[in-house]
Amino acid sequence: MNNKTLAILKPDCVKKNLIGKVVTLIQKAGFKVSAMKMVKLTPDAAKGFYQIHKDRPFFNDLIVYMTSGPCVPIALEKENAVEDFRKLIGATDPAKAAEGTIRKLYADSIQENIVHGSDSNENAAIEILHFFSRKELPDINGF
Ligand code: CMP
Repeated sequence: MNNKTLAILKPDCVKKNLIGKVVTLIQKAGFKVSAMKMVKLTPDAAKGFYQIHKDRPFFNDLIVYMTSGPCVPIALEKENAVEDFRKLIGATDPAKAAEGTIRKLYADSIQENIVHGSDSNENAAIEILHFFSRKELPDINGF
């Protein structure tokens, strides 16, 4: 189960017309796009997805931001997917992200940071199933 991760191109990525550029970087880094859709999260769906952060001071702002427009969840496959994807996107805070990473290139702030990546193999499976039914994952191993 170390071959999958969930990316979300967040509302700032969609608003800035960066879907194509970011997907190109992801594919050039060797990830296979296994499932992808555009959705506008409801407050309940965003709260469910970010439950782990419910007690953090930025939680309410995060929910407002994540429901401010459509986003693009993407199920990705690659060997060592979780770790390699987090390297590709860079640190949560773009000011601390390494040169060449997606957040360094395109993100404006620690909140509006363009893209989400799962933080563990266990969460990758949970997060992929948050957005995609098993029927929508025809080719992905392990589901
Ligand atoms: P993500 O990797 O999706 O995980 C939680 C999100 O909360 C994070 O990206 C940011 O969008 C946001 N976030 C994390 N830390 C902060 C913070 N200190 N201030 C504001 N937003 C944050």
